[in-house]
Amino acid sequence: MEAKFAHIIVFFLLALSFETLMARKESDGPEVIKLLKEFESESWCKGKQFWPELIGVPTKLAKEIIEKENSSINEFPIVLNGSPVPADFRCTRVRLIDNILGVVVQIPRVA
Ligand SMILES: *[C@@H]1O[C@H](CO)[C@@H](O)[C@H](O)[C@H]1NC(C)=O
Repeated sequence: MEAKFAHIIVFFLLALSFETLMARKESDGPEVIKLLKEFESESWCKGKQFWPELIGVPTKLAKEIIEKENSSINEFPIVLNGSPVPADFRCTRVRLIDNILGVVVQIPRVA
C-alpha cells in the first residue's frame, strides 16, 4: 500500500518538473527576442540587427531573406561554425555561421 503511494508521488513530481521544463522552453522565445530588441535600440546601426528566426534555415535562403528585409546589408560572409572571424564591425554585413550541412546554426546578426 505504501509503495503504491510512493509511486503516485514520484509520478506527480515527474509530471510537475516536466511541465515546468516545457513552460520554460515556451517562454524562452519571446524573452530572448525582447532582449535582442533592447540591444537593437542601443546599438550603433539602425534597423533590424538579429535574425533569430533563421536558425536552422539553409544558408543561401537566410542570405536572401536578410537581403530582402534590408537591401543596405550587402555582405554575407559564410563562416563554418567554429572558424575564427575577424573582430571588425560593419553595419552592412551579416555573417552567416553554418555547419557542414549548409544550415545556419547561430543567430545571424549585423557584425
Ligand atoms: C538597413 O541597414 C542599414 C545599415 O545597418 C541601416 O542604416 C538601415 O536603417 C536598415 N534599414 C532597415 C529598414 O532596417
